[in-house]
Parts: sequence; C-alpha cells; structure tokens
Amino acid sequence: MNVYEAIMKRRTIRKFKQEKVEKEMLVGLVDCARMAAFGANMQPLKFAVIDDKNTLDLMFPSIKWAGYLADGAPKENERPAAYIAVLGDREIKPNGMFETDAGAAVTTMMLAAEEKGLATCWLGAIDRSALTDILNLPEKYSLVYLLAAGYPAQESKAVEMTDGNVKYFMDEDKVLNVPKRPLDEVLIKL
Ligand SMILES: Cc1cc2nc3c(=O)[nH]c(=O)nc-3n(C[C@H](O)[C@H](O)[C@H](O)COP(=O)(O)O)c2cc1C
Repeated sequence: MNVYEAIMKRRTIRKFKQEKVEKEMLVGLVDCARMAAFGANMQPLKFAVIDDKNTLDLMFPSIKWAGYLADGAPKENERPAAYIAVLGDREIKPNGMFETDAGAAVTTMMLAAEEKGLATCWLGAIDRSALTDILNLPEKYSLVYLLAAGYPAQESKAVEMTDGNVKYFMDEDKVLNVPKRPLDEVLIKL
C-alpha cells in the first residue's frame, strides 16, 4: 500500500474485533508520530499506549462516539483494543496550544495504522478531566486527543457529497458512508 492508497482508503472505524494488537505495533505508531511536522520543531507531545482491559473499561464512559449515528458507538464486544493518548507537555510548551501539532501526529499515526491493517478512530469528544484522573496523568500533561485502535469489524467508505450534507450514515449493508466534498468544490480559483 502506498501513501496515496492509505490516504484514500483510510476511514474512521468505531467497531473493532476483540483481538489483541501487538504492543510493538502500537509503539510503532508512536514512532511514526514523533516524525510528524511540528510547529517550530518543538515536539511538545508525549504519547501513552493504553491496552490493559481494566483501564480501557474505565475510560469508555468518558468517550463520545459517532455523534451523527444512533447506533454508532462500539458495543461491549466491539470496543477498541487500545487507545493512544496524545498528551501536550506544558513544560515544553507552556502556552498549552497543542491541537495543531496533535493533529499532525494523529494523522501520521492513522496512516501508519492503515498500512498495517489496523483501524483507528480519532477521539476529541472526550471528558478530559475524568480521563486525566483515570490515567493518573502527571500535572505537566494536557490530554489533547485519544486515538482508538484495533482490527476493524466494520466497513466504511467515502462517498461524494452531493447535497452539502456532512452527516455520515449507515447504508442497508451496514457499511458506513462518509460524504466528502468533491474536488471541484474544495479546489477554488482565485
Ligand atoms: C478533531 C477530531 C475529533 C474527532 N472526535 C471524534 C469523536 O470524539 N468521536 C468519534 O466518534 N469520532 C471523532 N472524530 C472522527 C470524525 O467523525 C471523522 O474523522 C469524520 O466523520 C470523517 O470520517 P473519516 O475519518 O472516515 O474520513 C474526530 C475527528 C477529528 C478530526
């Protein structure tokens, strides 16, 4: 799979096989994340791989899934094998502006995961305060995002958006359809 194929094929997945993912693979994603582009090359992010069942279960209620779908959240037997917590280190970057760097890091991990056959879901609708407690995060870290990872138990595909409707939906074959604005809409002439 080349980079173009990974970009085009990658879709957010929210239902996962109950299969463990080798720790090495997850650490490999973090190894890719540290190579992302970072503003002023400050590299203010740290990453924690969480894959023990007890912590995963504690974290689950603090995460919101698939806001547009009634049935979009993973059921008990569809939950991800791991989360990678993306943390901002305020000792490196005291102004606490981590989102852009975290976006680059998460995207890099998602594409690296795609190549390895792993599915991911970028999670921003999270209860940061509750998760900070659950993970017992040291004071200097801000929880920016979580990335859920596991082997996919759901199909998702991009479809051309025709009506300006951004809401992803489940079709009759239980395939998630994700509307993407067409190239001639996003490419403008100045
Ligand atoms: C900043 C950000 C935050 C997100 N937060 C969540 C979230 O909390 N829960 C969720 O289910 N999906 C979340 N997503 C996934 C988006 O819903 C998904 O990327 C979007 O619907 C497009 O689908 P695609 O990734 O398959 O192209 C988030 C994505 C981004 C970029």
